[in-house]
Amino acid sequence: MPKCEQFNKICAKLDSCEHYQKFRVYWDKVLAMGNDSLEKTIAIATALCLVCAVLVSFSAVALKPLQVHNKELDMKKNILDVAGLLQEGSDIDKAFAEKIEAKIVNLETGDYVEDMNPAEYDQRKAAKDPALSAAIPKEKDIAHIRVKAKYAKVFLVKEAGALKSVILPVHGYGLWSTLYGFLSLDPDGQTVQSINFYDQAETPGLGGEVVNPNWRALWKGKKVYAETEQAGSEKGLIEAAEIGEPALSLIKGVVDNSKPGSQYQVDGLAGASLTSTGVTNLVRYWMSKEGFAPYIAKVRAVKGVKS
Ligand SMILES: Cc1cc2nc3c(=O)[nH]c(=O)nc-3n(C[C@H](O)[C@H](O)[C@H](O)COP(=O)(O)O)c2cc1C
Repeated sequence: MPKCEQFNKICAKLDSCEHYQKFRVYWDKVLAMGNDSLEKTIAIATALCLVCAVLVSFSAVALKPLQVHNKELDMKKNILDVAGLLQEGSDIDKAFAEKIEAKIVNLETGDYVEDMNPAEYDQRKAAKDPALSAAIPKEKDIAHIRVKAKYAKVFLVKEAGALKSVILPVHGYGLWSTLYGFLSLDPDGQTVQSINFYDQAETPGLGGEVVNPNWRALWKGKKVYAETEQAGSEKGLIEAAEIGEPALSLIKGVVDNSKPGSQYQVDGLAGASLTSTGVTNLVRYWMSKEGFAPYIAKVRAVKGVKS
């Protein structure tokens, strides 16, 4: 049915409605009142509120699908970015569909969960669902997140069937906020390709420098797990890492790349030691046995390709 015909039908229905007729009579009476009338002021203010409420509700409902799509698009953009595959002006949806494969991982076993659809799984929502999450014992909660989802959504980049990148979601508390990001690793599960934080509320210019491309570039090539006993620990950060435990940390100042252990160190954020400690701890938590270590062990064992 054409839209104007539909509109005319609604108008005709309204005209035949007894309550609407009563309202029209009352409204005409209100409009005829003087501008200093209390009743007219209240009636106009009420009508205005009602109209605004309808407009706001309508916009919220009508724009919801667009908001959801934009959020998804932003997430895809961040994943492409951390994988080093983001090209200015490219079609994000297309690039993501062609280059990135999402998988669900059981964090306890490190196995892929094939009967869950990655497109429908939201790890952040799952962390709030008691059936899909687990409380983290206080002594192990170095990332200060209290609960974690039992299943994580990871992303793989493959070229001609060979694994090129493993992209892991990480999060943890900084100074003011929980920082959510992605850590991209080589198929050895050891060498960092990149890190990015897509959701955080640290102070711009201080802890907020976690999004600075120059600082992010310092992560490339750094090693996550201690390979030798000299892996450094920094004052204020978590205790010395054991072999096989995550050793990567942000240090105060600038890393001296000629020193042993520098492969596990990234420059701390200037004037933001607390955010830096938060980043160290969140990376160490998610790369530990509590996080992705069981999965990384399996990725290494099968040289990356098992799905
Ligand atoms: C307004 C304000 C905002 C701050 N924001 C941060 C922040 O986002 N992250 C952070 O680690 N420190 C922040 N700090 C600084 C901390 O309070 C603390 O001084 C700092 O982490 C110490 O770092 P430094 O040892 O590198 O100087 C902020 C301080 C002020 C006054």
